Amino acid sequence: MSVTVRVPAKVNVQLAVGRARPDGFHDLANVFLAVGLYDEVTVTPADALRVTCAGPDSDQVPLDRTNLAARAAEALAARYGRDPDVHIHIAKDIPVAGGMAGGSADGAAALLACDTLWGTHASRDELLDICAELGSDVPFSLVGGAALGIGRGEKLTVLDVGGTFHWVFAMAGRGLSTPAVFREFDRLGEGMEIPEPVASQPLLGALAKGDPDALAAAVSNDLQPAALCLFPELAGTLAAGRAAGALAALVSGSGPTTAFLARDAESAVQVAEVLRASGTCRTVRTAVSPAPGATVVEIRR
Ligand code: C5P
Repeated sequence: MSVTVRVPAKVNVQLAVGRARPDGFHDLANVFLAVGLYDEVTVTPADALRVTCAGPDSDQVPLDRTNLAARAAEALAARYGRDPDVHIHIAKDIPVAGGMAGGSADGAAALLACDTLWGTHASRDELLDICAELGSDVPFSLVGGAALGIGRGEKLTVLDVGGTFHWVFAMAGRGLSTPAVFREFDRLGEGMEIPEPVASQPLLGALAKGDPDALAAAVSNDLQPAALCLFPELAGTLAAGRAAGALAALVSGSGPTTAFLARDAESAVQVAEVLRASGTCRTVRTAVSPAPGATVVEIRR
């Protein structure tokens, strides 16, 4: 038997970051929006736990126990007192180390796939607890749609989205390490007053209405200055997308993927063409949001 789960990428339409906590993490007000770029994770019984990966940049995906998909299988197996012997295959389409939660997505997908394969029937809350142990963005990958994450980003409140948003994503030539971007955020903020992170009411209103102009006016990412310090060329990508008519241009999460909100599908295609021709990024994709969270798409017996 094998089980396949499809899982979306995310963009953070608001990422408000507080000061570093004693545990090293930062309190966030993190508004996640799932976007229709997907990985597919298939689990099959095997003699031992192993991970394979195919797709663009799959050579950059770790195949050892540091892969969140492997850790998800181990965490669920440990809870249910069984061995985690599965072959996890990741068909990768979400950019690697791009700030779009690709690794987190695979963790959530592997967890749901193993729960289905093993018939462990963990409750939704139990799955969400395991996701939160695996990483701050993993619970959102399970839930999808749109949600406000507080704490480290793992305490979720589902949000209403009243329409379809059209996005263009520009992938950079190299990755950025999330801890390094948070460290740079701390360095840039040294000696400054860092306010408590709070969700923006205009932003939540824009999502609920499905209004791209209002959303464009409200998007923000407190990690963007830090990502730009570590990766200055991203400023050129952002400028190229703005000049191409994007309503908003921002770094996605900790980057280095940049996200461009377009008014409609046609405008997204135009912005994507201009970005492709600009020579300021490696690849360009269009996608719509919201997208559903991790979903079982195939069970083969
Ligand atoms: O939770 P996750 O393992 O995805 O976080 C990766 C890294 O990002 C953490 O080790 C930490 O350096 C940083 N981080 C943070 N505050 C958060 C989430 C992540 O400082 N709320």
